[in-house]
Amino acid sequence: MHYNRNFSLFILVVILEVHSSAGIYWLGLTVNGSSVGWNQTHHCKLLDGLAPDQLQLCRRNLELMHSIVHAAKLTKNACQTTLKDMRWNCSSIESAPHFKPDLAKGTRESAFVFALAAAVVSHSIAKACASGELPSCTCAPAPAEQAPPDFRWGGCGDNIGYGLQMGSAFSDAPMKSRRSGPQAFRLMHLHNNVVGRQVLVDAVETKCKCHGVSGSCSVKTCWKGLHDIGRIGEDLKTKYLSATKVIHRLVGTRKQLVPKELHVRPVREGELVYLVSSPDYCLDNAKHGSYGTQDRECNKTSSGSDSCGLMCCGRGYNAYTERVVERCHCKYHWCCYVSCKHCERTVERYVCK
Ligand SMILES: *[C@@H]1O[C@H](CO)[C@@H](O)[C@H](O)[C@H]1NC(C)=O
Ligand SMILES: *[C@@H]1O[C@H](CO)[C@@H](O)[C@H](O)[C@H]1NC(C)=O
Ligand SMILES: *[C@@H]1O[C@H](CO)[C@@H](O)[C@H](O)[C@H]1NC(C)=O
Ligand SMILES: *[C@@H]1O[C@H](CO)[C@@H](O)[C@H](O)[C@H]1NC(C)=O
Repeated sequence: MHYNRNFSLFILVVILEVHSSAGIYWLGLTVNGSSVGWNQTHHCKLLDGLAPDQLQLCRRNLELMHSIVHAAKLTKNACQTTLKDMRWNCSSIESAPHFKPDLAKGTRESAFVFALAAAVVSHSIAKACASGELPSCTCAPAPAEQAPPDFRWGGCGDNIGYGLQMGSAFSDAPMKSRRSGPQAFRLMHLHNNVVGRQVLVDAVETKCKCHGVSGSCSVKTCWKGLHDIGRIGEDLKTKYLSATKVIHRLVGTRKQLVPKELHVRPVREGELVYLVSSPDYCLDNAKHGSYGTQDRECNKTSSGSDSCGLMCCGRGYNAYTERVVERCHCKYHWCCYVSCKHCERTVERYVCK
């Protein structure tokens, strides 16, 4: 009896920990997704990383898989670039699809990664349509709204509609299945996916160009384009820093996510939500998926999250000097090359104790 109880507890823990990140297993496609041709349906099965419901999508839409593998790489890069000045700097995303607790549970960090990944998948597909890589879509149709004065719609707009349609089908598929964990986590991830895609839609801008013989500007066209992923990452970082902790509880007849501290209001559409509090990521603690900040570089003059005080959690820092060699005194020679000297400079660096 005792044995049985422990055993079922063990199974429960495994299900909770393994499956609540199922929605982003596909980030593991970066491991060897580029080495696959993606032109035969059995390729979908070759790789770790696709949830069962994504497998079917893969088989039916093989042509999308190059964009999705690309999106997995872009998501990792954007996550690490955007959060490089934070204690949690997204380095653990490299272990996808075998996530550590920092991303395997319903944390604030996983909220950020889900939202970013959802935005980036739709972004990649929308761009791939416009660049003619996909047989199933083309440039976006002309927008319904009026073009700016003196301009007309033309060029080739990113196909945001198709990107959102296929992107959400792919990103949300795992959470529609009971196998990907308890309902609370699925609701959390679905909500954050929607937030990510909304940030993408909010980042659409009208781009215009003048053409014509020798810049005469006789043809003026505009199209709708997406911002680059760096900007989308920054927008989501703001939301990450102000994310709301929620609980899953009965509201009327339905269980919903509601803010933990402010029971009075519902979850807002634009906010990221999380269920599980994170550690402060100051110390190395594998059990919590924290690497700690020892040996991380900090910035002595910054007052932000990369300041030595915050980054090193008050433990202090070591200073060392480093010589860097740079190109300097560059001269342009007619015609056509540039020659430079090499200059040495010492810079001071600070790393956390
Ligand atoms: C699949 O693509 C690879 C290269 O990407 C090519 O060598 C192979 O012939 C293709 N197979 C089919 C069945 O199209
Ligand atoms: C891809 O990597 C996974 C491990 O993440 C491995 O199990 C699988 O065999 C690899 N597939 C290919 C086609 O290399
Ligand atoms: C991110 O944090 C990890 C663990 O603290 C560290 O090893 C890595 O160098 C950091 N990456 C960057 C770019 O600072
Ligand atoms: C440190 O922070 C200051 C102020 O934010 C900034 O101007 C400077 O470029 C930073 N230095 C490094 C090495 O990142």
